[in-house]
Amino acid sequence: MRVLSGIQPSGSLHIGNFFGMMRSMIGWQAKSELFCFIVNLHALTSVNDGPLLARNTLEAAMDFLALGLDPDKCWFWVQGDVAEHSELTWILHNFTSMGLLERSHSYKDKISRGLVPNHGLFAYPVLMAADILLYQANLVPVGQDQKQHLEITRDIAGTFNHVFGPTFVLPEAGIDETLATIPGLDGQKMSKSYNNAINIFISKEELRKRVMAIVTDARAVEDIKDPDNCNLFAIFRLFLSPESEAELRERYLRPGLKYGEVKKELVETIWNYFAPYRAARADLVSRPDFVRDILQEGARKARLVAQQTLAVVRAKVGLNY
Ligand code: ADP
Ligand code: TRP
Repeated sequence: MRVLSGIQPSGSLHIGNFFGMMRSMIGWQAKSELFCFIVNLHALTSVNDGPLLARNTLEAAMDFLALGLDPDKCWFWVQGDVAEHSELTWILHNFTSMGLLERSHSYKDKISRGLVPNHGLFAYPVLMAADILLYQANLVPVGQDQKQHLEITRDIAGTFNHVFGPTFVLPEAGIDETLATIPGLDGQKMSKSYNNAINIFISKEELRKRVMAIVTDARAVEDIKDPDNCNLFAIFRLFLSPESEAELRERYLRPGLKYGEVKKELVETIWNYFAPYRAARADLVSRPDFVRDILQEGARKARLVAQQTLAVVRAKVGLNY
C-alpha cells in the first residue's frame, strides 16, 4: 500500500501537526511504501519572504527527521525539487471545474480571515491533487481540515479517468477521528497561521508562556469543571495514556482543581514528551548540508516514481507527437 502526505513549511511545526499528521506518518514507514514531503510550492500561497520560506523548509525537514522519520525507509523530499508536480498540476487544471474550487472551505476560510486571494490560493487544491495522483497513493493521513481537499482530488482523478480510461488511483483520506482537530490556545483549530500554536521545538520558557496563555473558563477553584469543553484538557489528553486521562478527568469533576496547576503539569509533560527528540534535532541543526543531501537523494528517488505516472498521462492527453 502507498501512503502519502505533505506538510507546508509556512511556519514552525506544532503539536497539532504532530498529533494530526506527523506521528501517524512516521508510524507508517514500517508498514507501507511511505511518501512524505515538504510542500514549499503550496506555502508560496501564504509566504512572500524568500529567506523565511527557505529556512522553514529546511527546519520542517529537520523536525520530521528528529521525530523519527527514516529516509532509508521512505521517500522524503521537497515538493519544489520535483518539477513533475507542477507539470501534472497544469494538466489537471483542465479537468477541474471552477465550481469545484469555488466550493472549497479552506479557500473561503482564508478569505474570511482577510487573506487577499490570488490565483495560487484558488488553485491550491489542484496542486495538492497532483501531489497525490503523481504517486498513485492509496491512503493520505491528514487532519480533518484536509478532508475536502481529498474529495476534490478524487473528483479530479475521476474526471480524468472517465475521459482517458483508468489512469489514477482514487485515494482515501486517513483521518484519526479521535484527534481530528486539535485546538489551539484560543480554542480554534491550532494553526501555524493563527498565532495560537504550541510549537514542538521551543525553549522551555517559550513553552511555559504558551501553555499559560491557553484560554480556560472562569469557574472558581471550588467549582466542578467540564473536561469535555476545556481547551486545556483537550490539549493535555494528547500526551496521556488512557489511565492518566481518566485520572485527570476525575480531578476535573471534583472541586478544588486549579487551572494554573494543571498548566504547570502540562508544561513538564510536553517538555518531557519531546525530550528524546530534542538532542536529535540539535544535531541536525548543526549539519544542514547533511539534511540537504538527504532531501536531494529523496527528490531523485521521488522523481523516478513521478516520471512513470507523468509519462502515461502525457501520452494519453496527447503531449507526445
Ligand atoms: P497549519 O494549519 O498549521 O498551517 P498545515 O495546513 O500545514 O497546518 O497542516 C499540516 C498537517 O497537519 C495536515 O495534515 C493538517 O490536517 C494537520 N493539522 C494541522 N493543524 C491541525 C490541528 N489543529 N489538528 C489536527 N491536525 C492538524
Ligand atoms: N494542503 C495540505 C495541508 O495544508 C498540505 C498538502 C499539500 C498535502 N499536498 C498534499 C497533504 C498532499 C497531503 C497530500 O495540510
